[in-house]
Amino acid sequence: RTVHVIGAPMDYGADRRGVDMGPSAIRYADLADELAAADVDAVDAGDLLVPRAEERDPGDESAKFLPEIEDLCTRLADEVADAIDSGHTPLVLGGDHAVAIGSLAGTARDADVGTIWFDAHGDYNTPETSPSGNVHGMPLAAALGEGRFAAEEWANARGLREENIVYVGLRTLDESERDAIRDSDMTAYTMRDIDERGITAVVDDALDTATDGVDGIHVSFDVDWLDPDEAPGVGTPVRGGATYREAHAALETVAERDRADDILRSMDLVEVNPILDESNRTADIAAELAASALGKRIL
Ligand code: ARG
Ligand code: MN
Ligand code: MN
Ligand code: MN
Repeated sequence: RTVHVIGAPMDYGADRRGVDMGPSAIRYADLADELAAADVDAVDAGDLLVPRAEERDPGDESAKFLPEIEDLCTRLADEVADAIDSGHTPLVLGGDHAVAIGSLAGTARDADVGTIWFDAHGDYNTPETSPSGNVHGMPLAAALGEGRFAAEEWANARGLREENIVYVGLRTLDESERDAIRDSDMTAYTMRDIDERGITAVVDDALDTATDGVDGIHVSFDVDWLDPDEAPGVGTPVRGGATYREAHAALETVAERDRADDILRSMDLVEVNPILDESNRTADIAAELAASALGKRIL
C-alpha cells in the first residue's frame, strides 16, 4: 500500500489559531518513521497553500471564513480523489476539522463511502444551528448537504451514505445537533458504550455498519477524541475522553478489518494544535495512531 500524505494547514474553521501548524508538528513527530514501521510506502505531497487568516475578514458570522474554506477544500478534494485514482491511500493532516469537508468530497466523489468519526464532538451543526459559527463544528452536515449546505455543491460528498456514518465515542453535543443526530440515519456510539462494552467491540460494530454495502470507508480522527490528559494540544478539549490504549486499540481494530477486507480508503488526522500542546505530545500520538490504523503491529 502507498500512503499519500497531504498537509492541510488550515485554521479558518476554528477560533483558536494554531491548528494550522498541525501538519508540521505531525511530520516533526516522525510520521515518516511511523509509516515505515507500519510497512507501507509513503509519498509526502507537501502542504496545500493556505492564505494567512490575519489578512482576511471572517465575513458571515454564521459560517466564518466559508469562502476561504471552500477554496482549500475544493483543492483538497481534487488531490484526495486523484490519489485514490492512482491507487493510493490519502492521509490528510489538519488543520481544523473543516478540512474533512474536502477529504469527504474527494473520497466519495466516484464511490459509495462510509465513515467512522472518532471525535468528542458531533460536528453536525449547520450555519443555521451553530452556536459559534465555526465551520469545524459543521463538516458532517456540510458533506451531507444539510441546511444551507444544500446549496454549496463543493461541500457535498456525493457518495457518502448517511446509513454508513458512525460516530465512536461522542461526549458532547449542542442541543440542535443532538436532535438532528437522533433524527438522522447515522449511528452514534458515545463514551458510555465504550465504558460498557469495551473499545474493540464498539469499533467492530461500527465497522460492520460503516462498511455495509459501500466501496470503502473514510476514517476521520479528531485528536480531541482522546482525553485532554493524553492529548492537551487541542482547541476544544472535553474531559473524559479515550485513553492512549483505547485509541490504539480502536485503530488497530480498523487495521485488522482492513487486512481482511481491504476497507480503508482514506483518513484524516485533525485538530492538533502545537501552540496549546506540551512538548509536541499530541502530535506524537497522532503520528503513532496513523501507524496503528495503517497496520503497524507489535508482533
Ligand atoms: N459544537 C461546537 C461548535 O459547533 C464545537 C465543535 C468542535 N469541533 C471540532 N472539530 N473540534 O462550535
Ligand atoms: Mn500518491
Ligand atoms: Mn471534530
Ligand atoms: Mn472534536
